[in-house]
Amino acid sequence: MNSTPATPVPPSNGDEAASGPAAPRHLVSIDDVSLGEMHALFEHADKFAADPKGFADSCPGFISASLFYEPSTRTRLSFESAMLRLGGGVLTAAEMTSSSVVKGESLADTIRVVGGGYADVVVLRHPSEGAARLAAQFSPVPVINAGDGSHEHPTQTLCDLYNLHVERGRIEGLDVVLAGDLRYSRTVHSFAYALARFGANIVCVPQPGFELPEYVVQRLYDEFGVNPVRADARGLGKLAANSDAVYLTPQKPHQLSLFTDARGWEVEHVDAVYMTRPQTERHSGKELSETTYLRLEKRAMAAESLRDAVVMHPLPRRDEISDEVDSDPRSIYFKQAARGVPIRMAILAWLLGRLELGADMSDAPNIGYPVPAGTNPCPNPSCISRTERRHVIPRTKVLARDPLKAACGYCTRDLAFEYVGCSSSGMYHAPGAKAVKQIHGNHLVFLESAVAAAESGFRPAGSAT
Ligand code: CP
Repeated sequence: MNSTPATPVPPSNGDEAASGPAAPRHLVSIDDVSLGEMHALFEHADKFAADPKGFADSCPGFISASLFYEPSTRTRLSFESAMLRLGGGVLTAAEMTSSSVVKGESLADTIRVVGGGYADVVVLRHPSEGAARLAAQFSPVPVINAGDGSHEHPTQTLCDLYNLHVERGRIEGLDVVLAGDLRYSRTVHSFAYALARFGANIVCVPQPGFELPEYVVQRLYDEFGVNPVRADARGLGKLAANSDAVYLTPQKPHQLSLFTDARGWEVEHVDAVYMTRPQTERHSGKELSETTYLRLEKRAMAAESLRDAVVMHPLPRRDEISDEVDSDPRSIYFKQAARGVPIRMAILAWLLGRLELGADMSDAPNIGYPVPAGTNPCPNPSCISRTERRHVIPRTKVLARDPLKAACGYCTRDLAFEYVGCSSSGMYHAPGAKAVKQIHGNHLVFLESAVAAAESGFRPAGSAT
C-alpha cells in the first residue's frame, strides 16, 4: 500500500473546537471531500478490491468505534469489515439503547469519552440532522457520518460514485435517474450534491409527494450552478408513468440551449437508475397510503432509454425493485453493497493518516469555509441544534451577503431570521439595513425576532447605550 506513517492532517472542516495543528479531518458531509480526493480514494479502493486480504498491515493497533443510534446492516458491517481487513480492531455500539445514552448522556459527552482514548476514529449514525457535525466539534479523533437523519450519508455517496467509476469509467456528463423517495432519502441528497459537482446530469423521478426538497434544489442551484428544468420522461416508459420528472443539469450554455421545446428535455438515454425505498422511519407512512410506490419491474427495464443503464440501490430494498430484476445483468445493487468495503478501507486508512491521497483539496466546499458563531434560529425540528440543546455551540454559515442568506451550520437548512445582530456593537438591525453590509461576517448574529434579540442582549439600532 502507498501508505505513510500517521501524520496530523492540517485542515479542519470548520470544527473550531478541534482546530489547531493536530485537528483531525472529519467526513461529515460529501462537501468535506474534494473531487481530486474522491478520485484518489477510488484508485486506492481499486487496489483494495483487487486484493482484499493483502493490506492487513495497514492500520495495526488502530481501533474504530461504531456508534449507531439507528439500525444498519451495510454501513456498520462494511466499516467493521474494512477496519479488520486493514489490520485494525473495532468497538461496536450497534444498539445505543444499551449504552449510557438511556441515562441521559449527551452525544457530545459520548464522543468526548469514546474519542478520548477508546478509539482512533468514530463512525456515527444518528437520527438528528447535523449530529455528526456536532460530534466533530467535540471529537479529538476523526468522525465519519454514517447517516444523520434525512440529511446526508457521505460514505454511501462515495460508495455510489465509486460504483459509477467502476461501471462507467467516469462520472462527468453521465445521466443519472434518482427515483423514489427523494424527500427523505439522505443517500439521494449527498449523491445529488456530488453528482452536481462532478458535472453529471440528474433526472428526478420522485414518488408523487416525495420530491427533492426545495432546500436541496436551491442549494444545487446556488452553490453548484445546477439548473432544474422540466423533463419529458416518456422515454423512461413505465418507470416514470406516475411521476413528473425534473431534469437537473449543470449550468452549461450548450445544455441550456437544448430546452427550446415546450415539453422540456427529452430523456432518451440513461446511464444509471438509482432506486430508493420509502423512508417510512422518517414520516408516518400515511402519506403513502393512497398511492402505490414506484416499482422497477422487468417491463420497465424494457424502455429503450434504459438499454445500457446500470440499476443501483443503496439498499435495503422493500418492493421497489422486483425480484425478477435481480438476474438482469444491468442490476448492480449487490455488487454496489460489496464495494462498500474497499471504498471504506480507503476512507479509514486516509482519515487515520495511513494513506496519503496527494490530491488538491481546495474545491471541497466545506474546507476553509468560515462558520461564525451566533444564535441559531434553525427552523428544522429534526436538527441536532434543536433535538439536543446541551453542548450545542451555535454555528451559522453565511451563504450570501446581498440579500443576506445564512444556513444552519449543523443541518445546513436556511435560517429563518427577522433581525441581524452585530456581536461587536451589540445592536440589531433589519436584514436589509445599510449598516448590516458593514458588519464583519464573523460578527453576524441571526435573530428570530425582536424578543430573541432582547433575550440575547441586543439593542435596537439607534437606541441609546
Ligand atoms: N445503505 C445503507 O445505509 O444501508 P444500512 O442502513 O443497512 O447501513
